[in-house]
Amino acid sequence: MCGIFAYLNYLTPKSRLEVLDLLVTGLKRLEYRGYDSTGVAIDSPDSKNIVMVKRMGKVKVLEDAIQEHFTGGEYSEPVATHIGIAHTRWATHGEPCERNSHPQRSDEGNGFVVVHNGIITNYNDVKTFLRKRGYEFESETDTEVFAKLVHHLWKTHPTYSFRELVEQAILQLEGAFAVAVKSKHFPGECVAARRSSPLLVGIKTKTRLATDHIPILYGKDDKKQTSDQETRPHGQTRELPVLPRSDSTSEFMPLEEKEVEYFFASDASAVIEHTNRVIYLEDDDVAAVRDGTLSIHRLKKSLDDPHAREITTLKMEIQQIMKGNYDYFMQKEIFEQPDSVVNTMRGRVRFDGNAIVLGGIKDYIPEIKRCRRLMLIGCGTSYHSAVATRQLLEELTELPVMVELASDFLDRNTPIFRDDVCFFISQSGETADTLMALRYCKQRGALIMGITNTVGSSICRESHCGVHINAGPEIGVASTKAYTSQFISLVMFALVMSEDRLSLQQRRLEILQALSNLADQIRKVLKLDSKVQELAKDLYQHKSLLIMGRGYNFATCLEGALKVKELTYMHSEGIMAGELKHGPLALVDDSMPVLMIVLRDPVYVKCMNALQQVTSRKGCPIIICEEGDEETKAFSSRSLEIPRTVDCLQGILTVIPMQLLSYHIAVLRGCDVDCPRNLAKSVTVE
Ligand code: M6R
Repeated sequence: MCGIFAYLNYLTPKSRLEVLDLLVTGLKRLEYRGYDSTGVAIDSPDSKNIVMVKRMGKVKVLEDAIQEHFTGGEYSEPVATHIGIAHTRWATHGEPCERNSHPQRSDEGNGFVVVHNGIITNYNDVKTFLRKRGYEFESETDTEVFAKLVHHLWKTHPTYSFRELVEQAILQLEGAFAVAVKSKHFPGECVAARRSSPLLVGIKTKTRLATDHIPILYGKDDKKQTSDQETRPHGQTRELPVLPRSDSTSEFMPLEEKEVEYFFASDASAVIEHTNRVIYLEDDDVAAVRDGTLSIHRLKKSLDDPHAREITTLKMEIQQIMKGNYDYFMQKEIFEQPDSVVNTMRGRVRFDGNAIVLGGIKDYIPEIKRCRRLMLIGCGTSYHSAVATRQLLEELTELPVMVELASDFLDRNTPIFRDDVCFFISQSGETADTLMALRYCKQRGALIMGITNTVGSSICRESHCGVHINAGPEIGVASTKAYTSQFISLVMFALVMSEDRLSLQQRRLEILQALSNLADQIRKVLKLDSKVQELAKDLYQHKSLLIMGRGYNFATCLEGALKVKELTYMHSEGIMAGELKHGPLALVDDSMPVLMIVLRDPVYVKCMNALQQVTSRKGCPIIICEEGDEETKAFSSRSLEIPRTVDCLQGILTVIPMQLLSYHIAVLRGCDVDCPRNLAKSVTVE
């Protein structure tokens, strides 16, 4: 979902062409988030104006346009201090087109230009207010309202600093957003802010930073700010409430460096090649750079606010986000799974002592054991990891386990109690529906556990405790290695919960044994790649694919169908085999592609029954079965054999052929594997 990248070089000479190159590379790193248009803004050669280039489509199109546009020699001359902003847009308000792309501007003279992620929900009210003051709008975006509101405040309060103008504007806005703003009236300055949409600041200095904290600065009269904020405009034409100016003098000193570069980005993958020192901004933080000095301000003061924001050192390596020898990130991520599952278990599972320690939750285990029920909440693939592990969690915790889609959970106003333990599963840690559900449960006093892959994400920060799945950066929009690592994290949790249950020890040992073999077994499954590619050739021209299974493999059917839909744009449905005769069997004939998962587990006989129901309707299913299971294989001319493992881990081995199949079908159909149409990696709007 939309990506922000801004770059400020202070006393670090760079030509505008170098800056543009940096901006474009930053956008390329954010491409995986999903987008439909792009744009950049830099200073004009005389530094008196701002020049923007915006394009529909991929970053490559923007890159070509930049090469055409910025041809003069003046663009190669170094500038000591400069700020450039860039954006990948995923349309929410207004169709994808150049006019609606970001940066959005305040006026024809490009006084203030803004890049923005998220949604300003009261933009219509503010638009009405501004129209009455003579502003005309050129796009359908909510973002343009922001740029024009800053401009209006600048005209009416000429003594305000750039940061104060942005703060005043934000205080009038509702919704979830992250913004970075550049202005020709405030050259060399940048102001960025976030509310419920991720944003971080990367810092690069020649010498080691003298501090690892940036103090937080507040306005003098925070109480007044909060109450004024409640009187936002609702379509009325009265003047906007103007709040007391904040006072940035403080006992703390902001970060001052002689030569410094700052990066503002939606996520760390865009800055890691420049610096590993970042600050994750929190909701209602406003970060401002002026004369090379970074300061962080809070719009609202709350009792539990820390005094400073920590400068975090990223552990991520640039190689981790490069494609290497693979054609697509998704392909690379599928093939990384033998390592990523081991990384999820590393330092946590001791195979020799049969012990598991989950450092992020160990202090909460007694409380969790006393809970009324476990609730597993997520969206898309993350939700499927909950479906995949529910049965084992019920078995090993002996607690009721509810599995919920975050959006539906919120729609129902689901009752939540203080003695509930709620898990929020999210690769990105930023999915708006999941985050809203988390806040809903937290307000009602439940214990909040985050299962995420992104350190520093909102879900991480807002959880009481959690498990970091350690799958490494996942760039492809289609989630693959995060799924298997979420799966394993939940299995590890079930094992921790059953540690002291004598009656369950045999079962635990069996699972631990299987976990120790998992990486090798995944390698074996990955060797099926060329066979899966052949099957993809049979399937890619069809309109539909039905995927059937039950028990521990039902989640694979749902996840496989989701992968096929999102990557290939074919219709696909994950069908619970037990439901066949209640409707879906009507779809089956000799032309309908069907894939069935039939493994030697407690539901084997029932799956065989379903297989026979399909073959007797002339269906010719592809079968996923266990290695050497000749009896099952005999039902079809096309099968994929996977190694035998314990029933509750089968889902990890059966989902990999589905990931490969959807990948190969997508390639054959000419689809954009890493950035499927209409989708975003991180869905930060509800
Ligand atoms: O980042 P999250 O795990 O919270 O994302 C949830 C879904 O948007 C995500 O899993 C989506 O379904 C994937 N694109 C599926 O491959």
